[in-house]
Amino acid sequence: AQPQLLAGKNIMITAGPTREAIDPVRYISNHSSGKMGYALAQAARSLGANVTVVSGPVALAAPAKCNLVKVISALDMHDAVMADINQQDIFIACAAVADYRPATIAEQKIKKTNNDEMIVRMIKNPDIVAKVAALENAPFTVGFAAETQDVEHYARDKMQRKNLAMIAANDVSQSGQGFNAEDNALTVFWPQGMTQIALASKQDVAAQLLQLIATQFNANTSP
Ligand code: C5P
Repeated sequence: AQPQLLAGKNIMITAGPTREAIDPVRYISNHSSGKMGYALAQAARSLGANVTVVSGPVALAAPAKCNLVKVISALDMHDAVMADINQQDIFIACAAVADYRPATIAEQKIKKTNNDEMIVRMIKNPDIVAKVAALENAPFTVGFAAETQDVEHYARDKMQRKNLAMIAANDVSQSGQGFNAEDNALTVFWPQGMTQIALASKQDVAAQLLQLIATQFNANTSP
């Protein structure tokens, strides 16, 4: 058994995609599988934490011994996170939240017309991880960054802008890792350091990332 580095701590993890409705039968979404977030949930359990997973629609079995809150849209995910965030010691934002949603959801199925074009006007969704990190008494907040170039520069910039304690960057230009893949590799940054987690299964990568999070969390919170 592993040392219970997070015994009794409360961790919330967002996972999976969000779905943004256009009308009663259509939506805009992305290819996130939720596998990384669910692997993080299991890794956090293994370290003794109480885990809440706020999950968009995924084709995965519920993570064992975790509190699973199922949501559909980014606004749902925002509300579910905010409802319980004051109880959390650590927040990990692993979800691929849609940046925009249709400005209105048509009440009836939108009919095809003779026009060869249609326009869906979109408005910005709340940035959940930035809102959490901006809270008074914010939990130790970890974000993800999917980058294709200049990973350190963009990841550190994102960490600063969103006021995160740590950021895990995927290089999504590499095939076979990250988004909707079985394996992942991460470069992890925090204000005073960085480390690489080499390409491995998402379970292995999640276990290593949770070790880092636990170490930094315990360093930040011990007197
Ligand atoms: O700004 P960008 O979307 O690249 O940031 C990615 C990070 O922000 C991830 O941790 C993701 O879960 C989080 N995020 C969020 N709410 C959004 C958009 C992104 O929590 N609306």
